[in-house]
Amino acid sequence: MSKSLADKFGRRIRYLRVSVTDRCNFHCKYCMPEGEFEHLSHSCILSFEDMLFACSVFAEMGVEKIRVTGGEPLVRKGVTDFMHMLTDVKGIEEVTLTTNGSLLEKFADEIVAAGIRRVNISLDSLRPERYRDITGGFDLDRLLKSLYIAKKAGLDPIKTNTVVIRGFNADEIHDFCDFSVRSGVVARFIEFMPIGNSPDWKQENIVLGSEMLKIIGEKYDYEEIKKEHHAGPAKNYRLSNGGRVGIITPISNHFCSECDKLRLTADGKLRPCLLTEEEYDLKEPIRKRDREGLIEAISGALCKKEKEHHVVADKRNERYKRTMSGIGG
Ligand code: 5AD
Ligand code: SF4
Repeated sequence: MSKSLADKFGRRIRYLRVSVTDRCNFHCKYCMPEGEFEHLSHSCILSFEDMLFACSVFAEMGVEKIRVTGGEPLVRKGVTDFMHMLTDVKGIEEVTLTTNGSLLEKFADEIVAAGIRRVNISLDSLRPERYRDITGGFDLDRLLKSLYIAKKAGLDPIKTNTVVIRGFNADEIHDFCDFSVRSGVVARFIEFMPIGNSPDWKQENIVLGSEMLKIIGEKYDYEEIKKEHHAGPAKNYRLSNGGRVGIITPISNHFCSECDKLRLTADGKLRPCLLTEEEYDLKEPIRKRDREGLIEAISGALCKKEKEHHVVADKRNERYKRTMSGIGG
């Protein structure tokens, strides 16, 4: 078995994002607005044993890094044990976590004990009213407390993810730059992608990375931090106030040519690209523990991984069936 999983464009796949649940205790407006959401049924969700089997096969094929995502991964019972077991899978060098942060106060120690250090936390506003509004009712102070508990527990680096949306939080970019200094987090800004089904958000509300950088430059000098090898899609900057920020530009400057990831949804679908709708069902070989069949299905799906996505900022993009909470970001 070759240890280097690659697609037909020669991109080496090292990274798997595993969504452990499509459920979430938040209702972020751009992701899963309240009231109009249908969850996956329990019977189609993979068990943790299923996921471990799948991950071990992916690792055998060349995946080295796994990010656990959701929905909100920490709402699924037993997820910290699962993460612990993932860190023991042969070939997996690092397991990381993306979370909305709300349950870190409860789970930070277990996460550290599971061997996880890098966490990304969604944080779309630093203003209590707005934060409550976008998350569907969560308290900002509580979240910030959770974040500090996570830091004290030893999670490092902590990066925040802010989806920048015109008319909602685009006026907080400088605040996030200062927050980065106060809190020691890397504040990352993400271009708003047309995923999900919220009627509130529109194409015109996308703020491109170039505009974000221009706004940052109005107050701070910045210097680009050279990327480490396989460092992910963010461009990182050190600011003159001592802060660190990252800009992620899936729309204006997509990083498809360097894409090294695949996604496994909670219901066992392999999604070769976040912004392309195609999915391949792996549930059967996973549940049957059919290693050969799974390798074949993964290889087959990978052959169909597209060269790049076709979402652009100045064109109305079709809406996506699955929301981010179902794909895992
Ligand atoms: N556009 C950009 N980012 C999004 N996220 C969720 N939905 C969108 C969207 N439509 C982000 C979340 C989370 C990460 C996994 O993806 O903020 O931090
Ligand atoms: Fe939950 Fe994250 Fe979606 Fe918000 S963006 S509803 S925290 S999955």
